Amino acid sequence: MKILSGTSNPRLSKEISKKLKLKLINTNIKRFADGEIYIEINENIRGNSVFVIQSTSTPANDNIMELLLCIDALRRSSAKNITAVIPYFGYARQDRKVAPRTSISAKVVSNLITNAGASRIVTVDLHAGQIQGFFDIPVDNLFTTPMFARYIKKKFKIKNLVCVSPDVGGVQRTRGLATKIKADLAIIDKRRPEPGKSQVMNIIGDVKGKNCIIVDDIIDSGGTIINAVEALKKAGAIDVYVFITHAVLSGEAAEKIKKSKIKKLIITDTIDNSLKIKNNSKIEVISIAPLMAEAISRISNSTSVSDLFN
Ligand code: R5P
Repeated sequence: MKILSGTSNPRLSKEISKKLKLKLINTNIKRFADGEIYIEINENIRGNSVFVIQSTSTPANDNIMELLLCIDALRRSSAKNITAVIPYFGYARQDRKVAPRTSISAKVVSNLITNAGASRIVTVDLHAGQIQGFFDIPVDNLFTTPMFARYIKKKFKIKNLVCVSPDVGGVQRTRGLATKIKADLAIIDKRRPEPGKSQVMNIIGDVKGKNCIIVDDIIDSGGTIINAVEALKKAGAIDVYVFITHAVLSGEAAEKIKKSKIKKLIITDTIDNSLKIKNNSKIEVISIAPLMAEAISRISNSTSVSDLFN
């Protein structure tokens, strides 16, 4: 087994390789003056099972292209099989036609990765589970809920907890966490009047006098979460903690969070935000590296990945 890192999140790749006690493949990945990408593998990988780690976060198009070229270079170098490890799978939110003449971008990206030569995908908290079906190769979708639950049980000394889903789509994930930490469940009825804007319509469940834990897969502009926190506070919640797998944090999101009523935002490092969140005491990062390394090791040894979540 060998590991190749793309350039989107080298910190995470290093952490994963450290956990696996493996050196990253020696590569030369650079950009030509016009922005085109050049990939060269500087060691023999013939007959190896190779895991390519690349989050397709911003700049999404560049990072996707780099992933495709890495896979192609590995295929042409006679790797035995290639697993695309995509901690954050960009374009996942465009998983269906939302209007009559729109693209299903998640499907296009899935086709590109398969056609480049990947034989398996490993990813984390896919925005929509059904994206697994866009691939005709195995997809291992890892879940952060057990990791978040362990963190809460270890660090939270507070009582009266209620887990809150920020929208109807997140109920299954939130119920999973609520069950694990033995908390109540509440649901926010969110509406998107236009893309990029969100509005809280109703809160279903009792949050008055309670400490709330919102859990979601993505925080992008921060609008969904900040509005949810405002509404929960208005409804009498004491403190609101937020757990997010993929911190996209576009534009001024990190600053808005700093100024918001969020007590603490806990994110993972599927996307490298080290610069954006520097000096932001409201945001804490839990590394996904141990979970990813364990999944890679299990795939390599052909043992169960789902056992990780039982
Ligand atoms: C939506 O379904 C997702 O789970 C997130 O709630 C959404 O992408 C967050 O976006 P924003 O932070 O821009 O409101």
